[in-house]
Amino acid sequence: LNYCVPRTRKEIFELLVKGLMRLEYRGYDSAGIAVDGDKNTTKDNNQDIVLIKKKGKVKALDEELYKKDCMNLEAVLGTHFGIAHTRWATHGEPNAINSHPHRSDKNNEFVVIHNGIITNYKELKKYLNSKGYEFESETDTEVIPKLIKYVYDNRERDDLSFSTLVERVIQQLEGAFALVFKSRYFPGEAVATRRGSPLLIGVRSQHELSAEHIPIQYNSGEGYLCVDVTGLVFYRENTGMEYYFASDASAIIEHTNKVIYLEDDDIAAVVSGKLSIHRLNRQAGEDPVRAIQTLQMELQEIMKGNFEAFMQKEIFEQPESVFNTMRGRICFETNKVVLGGLKDHLKEIKRCRRLIVIGCGTSFHAAVATRQILEELTELPVMVELASDFLDRNTPVFRDDVCFYISQSGETADTLMALRYCKERGALTVGVTNTVGSSICRETDCGVHINAGPEIGVASTKAYTSQFVSLIMFGLMMSEDRISLQGRRLEIINGLRTLPDMIKKVLALDKNIKSIADELYEQKSLLVMGRGFNYATCLEGALKIKEITYMHSEGILAGELKHGPLALIDKDMPVIMIIMRDACYTKCQNALQQVTARSGRPIILCCQDDPEVSKNAYKTIGLPQTVDCLQGILSVIPLQLMSFHLAVLRGFDVDCPRNLAKSVTVE
Ligand code: G6P
Repeated sequence: LNYCVPRTRKEIFELLVKGLMRLEYRGYDSAGIAVDGDKNTTKDNNQDIVLIKKKGKVKALDEELYKKDCMNLEAVLGTHFGIAHTRWATHGEPNAINSHPHRSDKNNEFVVIHNGIITNYKELKKYLNSKGYEFESETDTEVIPKLIKYVYDNRERDDLSFSTLVERVIQQLEGAFALVFKSRYFPGEAVATRRGSPLLIGVRSQHELSAEHIPIQYNSGEGYLCVDVTGLVFYRENTGMEYYFASDASAIIEHTNKVIYLEDDDIAAVVSGKLSIHRLNRQAGEDPVRAIQTLQMELQEIMKGNFEAFMQKEIFEQPESVFNTMRGRICFETNKVVLGGLKDHLKEIKRCRRLIVIGCGTSFHAAVATRQILEELTELPVMVELASDFLDRNTPVFRDDVCFYISQSGETADTLMALRYCKERGALTVGVTNTVGSSICRETDCGVHINAGPEIGVASTKAYTSQFVSLIMFGLMMSEDRISLQGRRLEIINGLRTLPDMIKKVLALDKNIKSIADELYEQKSLLVMGRGFNYATCLEGALKIKEITYMHSEGILAGELKHGPLALIDKDMPVIMIIMRDACYTKCQNALQQVTARSGRPIILCCQDDPEVSKNAYKTIGLPQTVDCLQGILSVIPLQLMSFHLAVLRGFDVDCPRNLAKSVTVE
């Protein structure tokens, strides 16, 4: 939003598109833009808005902008408020209609961009439908522009400000959002707000900025009070100011390093070049100002936040990514779990004779990790299969099988071929992916989107824990009417409720883990041993170590120790053992005895305060204890962190390991 000099539409496009390209690491399946149009096409004499949306990466949108011959690119616009968005689908496949900005109606009276998930969108949509508002997309977001139009159409006074309308809208929204609104009724005005999703405002001035803080205003009850931000605004009309709203600073850093981070329920409005921020309600002890901060970081650093690598960022994102996987799907009051993409097929799934869960790499490990609890909750035989081996064996598949395909990318060739193989044999196919609109999503009969957000690091981390949680939720959904399983279900649902906090506690062990990595990084080999619910952690931990540190590493089933691996143990072989307080506790302790009897020096991942295990350990990493079948989500995190530190210490590029690709689309 520019209040400095007149700009052509082309310049505005360029600025927005460049910003979107910087944000592409957050999502890239479709993109869209809304700017002021050339003329007033409707009778009300308001400035019309042009909306252009395109499936694919931002580059596809960029090309589209210059194809539109109806647009005068050289037109000099008086107000320069454009909005743009790059999407990573959560509801509705990636296509032009589902991409943002979303609009209130065919005249584009209100347009909005959204980052986050609206969990009560179905109720809102039903209500708005009943009032005659017609929807065009499959997204949750579209309720927002429809709702603001509804509020506008039913306003009691003509002089309601744009931000008052927005305030009324967000009072009805549940879930997470960062929103920016534009309207033909309020040309040149911007309103932005957030709850749970990040949003910042970049401020650029032709003059030295004199203010360090912006006082925030509290709602006085009736209407909205717009107040001058003294010190920030220099001239009333031509203010010499530019404002940039963005999900993160990477989009705007080339224009300004002065930013204001909005907080939940802040409503920021720019009217005639004046920025004001107000809040819905005053909270006790609340800071009454928002600071203007000066960023010192380089672009790459900003994209990664304070992290050295995307993989590290993604490891630390897990409290949120796991929460996003569960958001809107588990009702903690009624203990109901509903996966929208499966509910219409549930009857059929319940009638099946066996479940086959297929994947490659980390995705396969998510299947191994949840096999036992799926067997317990569904009371069905569960096969877990590496896609390549499954195909090599020409495995028999029947019409009454239900086959799951686990894949972060949704494009892995082996997994996709296994899907086609099972489809030909008449099985019901279910996708579990992180990429809506991917081949696996499109070709399966139904599915679950894990909602972990884009994963950039080649070594998968947050996708694994979200796949894990998704498969557990499936088990919970299947067992809802089994009376004998209610106690177990309740225990797991309670465990899921506290999972994000427990993950935070595990992440807080990072320093301890780094110090162990300092001791290990020159080793050639590292064994990871465990059994039961934590066996998958051994496989996944060893895979992480192989992938990014290039050390030899093996995940060993502790039950197999005597049948071979014990021969590897001596005082020089580093061994990580996972010993949690579950049904395998005693058996794991036996394995520990065998290791220490051969002078092994085990590093033990165990529950906090377990003196029995700790006394035989060379080092311990004490984890909070959760339900046995969820413990693997916590026990894998120290190994993700360990592999990261080992790779850094060994001097390797964590995000792009040699010889490996994020998505393997060839057999
Ligand atoms: C590649 C990646 C792994 C990933 C595997 C399966 O090998 O390097 O990190 O686990 O593919 O990918 P998918 O996208 O199907 O989960």
